[in-house]
Amino acid sequence: MCGIVGSIGFKNTKSFIIDGLKDLDYRGYDSAGLAFSFGKRINIYKAVGSVSNLEAIIPELSLNPYMGVGHTRWATHGKPTEINCHPHQSMHGLFTIVCNGVVENYLQLKQQLQSKGFKFVSDTDTEVISNLLEDRYFETRNIMRSIEETMAVLTGSFAVVFIADMDPKHLYFMKRHSPLMIGRGDHFSLVASDASPMVRYTDKYIDLEDDSYGFISNDDVEIFKNGEKIPFQFTKKSPDITVKDLNGYPHYMLKEIEEIERVIRRLMVEYYDKGEFLFDHELMRALTESDHIVFVACGTSYHASLVGARYFDILGKSTSTHIASEFAYYPQFPGRKPFFIFLSQSGETADVIHCMTTVKEHNIPCLVLTNKKGSTLERGCDFSLLLHAGLEVSVASTKAYAAEVALLALLANAYSNRKEVIRDLEECCGVIADIDQNLKGKVHEIAEELKHSKDIYFLGRGFDYDMSLEASLKLKEITYIHSEAVAGGELKHGPIALISQDTPVIVTISDNVTALSMRANIQEVKARGAKVFTFVTEPLANDTDTIVVKNHKRYLSPVVMSSLAFYFAYYVAVLNDRNVDKPRNLAKSVTVE
Ligand code: F6R
Repeated sequence: MCGIVGSIGFKNTKSFIIDGLKDLDYRGYDSAGLAFSFGKRINIYKAVGSVSNLEAIIPELSLNPYMGVGHTRWATHGKPTEINCHPHQSMHGLFTIVCNGVVENYLQLKQQLQSKGFKFVSDTDTEVISNLLEDRYFETRNIMRSIEETMAVLTGSFAVVFIADMDPKHLYFMKRHSPLMIGRGDHFSLVASDASPMVRYTDKYIDLEDDSYGFISNDDVEIFKNGEKIPFQFTKKSPDITVKDLNGYPHYMLKEIEEIERVIRRLMVEYYDKGEFLFDHELMRALTESDHIVFVACGTSYHASLVGARYFDILGKSTSTHIASEFAYYPQFPGRKPFFIFLSQSGETADVIHCMTTVKEHNIPCLVLTNKKGSTLERGCDFSLLLHAGLEVSVASTKAYAAEVALLALLANAYSNRKEVIRDLEECCGVIADIDQNLKGKVHEIAEELKHSKDIYFLGRGFDYDMSLEASLKLKEITYIHSEAVAGGELKHGPIALISQDTPVIVTISDNVTALSMRANIQEVKARGAKVFTFVTEPLANDTDTIVVKNHKRYLSPVVMSSLAFYFAYYVAVLNDRNVDKPRNLAKSVTVE
């Protein structure tokens, strides 16, 4: 959500900024803008919609701008309009800034500035920062002091890059909680929200610390904290970036669903070899020594954590699961020796980062399962396990969910030294391949039948309930059809009131422990007129079932059955002509709280 790129001294500023904004588009955005500095003159361009819209309005440049900053905005304060689009200039034009994050006290600051005569043109919190800088500059006549005094009054999270009118030789930055990186090249410097816009031009990065600020120039970087210049080191570690390529598929989501089998096979190779699990000994020791595992995540990753918690519960370990944005306000540290497991595909989800910071303040060990090497969570946690799912482009997470569950299965089995998990996962891969080859056509037929539904309900118990939550989320986010997942036993405690003639209900049955109760639930909803579709595993199936999936271990059913659910959501979205890979209002990486 929101992306920043900037350069100084680079040989082709326009292409770096435009290509960089496109590299960051996975973060989601609804408008884009940039500023070019030609020394004495600053030109600003803004467009609602895609970066291509922005590109289209930039004229042919006869001179290469010496520096530039670009921004993709995901609206938080104010609608996605040109006025609200970044860069924002301070009232007298001294500072031209782009910002990611959320300034929590922006209203109060805005009022203070207004009482001093500052006028605002946008609804954004970013314009408050530009005017604060200007206000402080009028007072101090010193850019660095203006930054320090501005940072001292801001609360919340921000990554800010700005051009100072009075200093055309430096590009300034300041950062707290929102990610920002610097890249150094031969007589040029770059800055961006992550390394992806910079990888083509440098392998020398600086990962900026919270509360740092400073400037870059064509041949220098200076970083400060609390008024002191601080030393820094370049990391040469190149980030885990895979090429974005549809490879003949109509949508990334479909491609990513069909990569699930390969992702699981890769995880087995990464974490098991020659009859041994390859998890870090210190990690296994920390897990063993802990008396309570706390899972924290958001959205799809949260749904995967529900499955992971069941794995450890079954092994007799006490666990709890939390939605990160809830935990952030009500942190809990159960047991004498808790151990935290965060799940985050992107590794940059602000709510989860907030929780990690709280957990670290309490000196409690933590692990993250993430798909992004070098991400904020990967760097911040004591332990990290990579999902090895490759780049996930589609906003709707699919292969990362499967990878999270499969990796948690590997970890829990390593914890109990149960090596049969490898055979179980092999079997699971075969079942998924069968879905990809033979069953998805049937799912398409169901999608065709249900594509005009107003509501669709998912029913399940145990692992099937966990998976149903994910099935329902996936459906609603990309089709905009209302959906709910209901635990079978909860039906009669309320939700059954919603069932009437022809209400679609998709029931998953993969667990012999709950199969009979689920069959009873089917009768209950059918008696109220529901149109029932069943996803069932072979040994539990009968002639009336809609889709029968080959047998596999019940604890891995969320990995298998979610493939059906992902196909279902995908087909319904395509049949309704939805923007499958970029559903409305959503971003791939939710970097604001
Ligand atoms: C849904 C989806 C989101 C993410 C959530 C957490 O398809 O992708 O619900 O799962 O925003 O993101 P990560 O896993 O990157 O922390």
